[in-house]
Amino acid sequence: MRTFVAINFPDILKNEIKDIQNSLKPFVKSARWTTVDNFHLTIKFLGEIDNSEKESAIEAIRIACNGFKPFEISFDRLGYFGSSENMRVVWIGMSKNPDKLFLLQSEIEKSFKAHGFPPDEKGFKPHVTIGRDVILSKKIDLSSFAINMDKLYVDKVSLMLSENSGKGFHYTPIYQIVL
Ligand code: 2AM
Repeated sequence: MRTFVAINFPDILKNEIKDIQNSLKPFVKSARWTTVDNFHLTIKFLGEIDNSEKESAIEAIRIACNGFKPFEISFDRLGYFGSSENMRVVWIGMSKNPDKLFLLQSEIEKSFKAHGFPPDEKGFKPHVTIGRDVILSKKIDLSSFAINMDKLYVDKVSLMLSENSGKGFHYTPIYQIVL
């Protein structure tokens, strides 16, 4: 099974993200837009794991989150990975790295390492993907876009199952821990 560790969003925030996505659409020639159900913040990508690794992953999350209290994060920035001609990923993120989120991510990394999972070599770049392979129709500065979103109250961490039905990816929480 293909899995990742993530923070999910309440519907109100998903709708706010959808509004931001819609405000971008008039400036876009082509893109693969993320569906509302799929908006999330990945903490650690695991990829293919088997059943025994799933049990280890659950244990790793449980240990990492032990004693962690809920916290808030603010999204205030639009950005992209890739080049301005072909934006591989367009995302919503934050201009200031939130300490608690980075602490949570490093506890997760440490715990997964102790449970035999490979480390994240690329470094943590917290982001919510809203579109892939985005080609703009007009030259615009993504950083000038207004991001009006409520704060995200992080009180759960989830192990997500990622499935592709052929019509695109579908994500389901298979384990959740409350902070
Ligand atoms: P992305 O949105 O930036 O592509 C489910 O696919 C989640 O796992 C997404 O948040 C995705 O990030 C992330 N993901 C997919 N493949 C990954 C990889 N090889 N390394 C890190 N994160 C990955």
